[in-house]
Amino acid sequence: MDWRPNRADKKPIYKQIADYFEQGISSGIFPPDSMLPSERALAMELQVNRSTVVAAYEELQSIGVVERKKGSGTRVSADIWGISHKRIPNWGRYVEDGSFLPNLPLVQRIRKETEKKELINLASGELASPLFPTEQFQKILSEQPFTGHLGYDHPQGNMVLRDTISAHVKEYKDIDTNASSILITSGAQQALNLIVQCLLKPRDAVAIEDPSYCFSLPIFQSAGLRIFHLPMDKHGIDPDDLISLHRKHRIRMVFLNPDHHNPTGSVLSLARRKRVLELSAEFGIPIIEDDPYSLTTFDGKVNPTLKSMDHNGNILYISSLSKIVASGLRIGWVIGPPQVIQRLADAKQQVDFGHSVFPQWIANEFVGSKHFITHILALRKELKRQKDVMTASLNARLSEQTEFIVPKGGIHLWCKLNENVNEYHLLEESMKRGVAFVPGSIFGSKKGYVRFTFGRGETHLIREGITRFADAFYSIQQL
Ligand SMILES: Cc1ncc(COP(=O)(O)O)c(C=O)c1O
Repeated sequence: MDWRPNRADKKPIYKQIADYFEQGISSGIFPPDSMLPSERALAMELQVNRSTVVAAYEELQSIGVVERKKGSGTRVSADIWGISHKRIPNWGRYVEDGSFLPNLPLVQRIRKETEKKELINLASGELASPLFPTEQFQKILSEQPFTGHLGYDHPQGNMVLRDTISAHVKEYKDIDTNASSILITSGAQQALNLIVQCLLKPRDAVAIEDPSYCFSLPIFQSAGLRIFHLPMDKHGIDPDDLISLHRKHRIRMVFLNPDHHNPTGSVLSLARRKRVLELSAEFGIPIIEDDPYSLTTFDGKVNPTLKSMDHNGNILYISSLSKIVASGLRIGWVIGPPQVIQRLADAKQQVDFGHSVFPQWIANEFVGSKHFITHILALRKELKRQKDVMTASLNARLSEQTEFIVPKGGIHLWCKLNENVNEYHLLEESMKRGVAFVPGSIFGSKKGYVRFTFGRGETHLIREGITRFADAFYSIQQL
């Protein structure tokens, strides 16, 4: 329970507790006929005397919204409709019944835990705040006057930004495109969502990497898709696995994250990239290339994207500024055939009336400026340093107990636990010690792995985080 009584309030604490439960009962948080916490448990949780809880429950009983029986606790009245004369929707039922699925409870739990300031967060998939180009953004804001239009923008996104993105992908990824083939989205996440909603229907079969980016999984599930896995090794998926999957299930779309893959960090080899394109052309299956990480490559050699090698128009390409500039900017894009882009733009207009003007404006000023490449060069250096600190810390504390392939870019390290350790138990023990990571099974079928995001931690925090993780690991071993 997040709620606590306000001790500075003039209203007596027992009355605050009674009001809290009365409102919760009316709004369906505590449904009819459900048990309320025991007097003792609630008193402990709220740090009040048991007599205060008793007074609150008696107050609720006096207005008829709960029933109390000695020895069997306090129960919400089964017929509160009759008592209150109000028709109260069963919000709990609505919340459970919606067709858009919630995140896994463990994902929600980690997110909640990472809100704690003192926690060392090696779980969230984003950059540490010193890596954001905050000063350059402040400079743009103080020096460049905004002269743009403040009405709804074009549903495909701001024209000037689309021209800038077109030049950007040509320069850095050798992709030939133009503004009419680009849609600006709220990060790569919205691009994935629009593609699933607009181009697929329930029961369609899709192939995804195993393991796979965990926030894409509920999108596929909510859309009622049938999901088939392409196992990964250190060079990515084996494209020939697609042949048997397609023969059995008629795969309608394939989702790949070929560069510095989340969570494994692996890079799809050039030979496999070529084979993916051959098979896509042979079977006519579209490939979604999800590429938020390729510019983070530590040695500066950016692999050819599938999109740059695609001469048939089989690839829908997604990227974003989240992992290279700032995740809070919420700027991503899709590049594909104009017919598809227009369909997605039409849906985006229904969802949010097009992208917000200011993030587009500042993204354009930054990506189109000479500061962009200076920032990327510094970012690669710093990410490599953070990766080195993490691998050195793991080697120093857990060399026998863990195994990993050293990533060549990106922000994640995928780590195999050599001992038979339950990752969920390990997470609980680690969080008690003030560090969070993501258990590997959240990303797919593999057990016995954990994902650390080295991009998220400043170097001293990475060292300390791995020390705490190691303490948690050994404490479990001793049980
Ligand atoms: C592979 C992959 N795709 C898409 C996203 C979504 O990123 P964003 O919406 O911030 O661009 C992420 C974020 O972690 C990711 O790792």
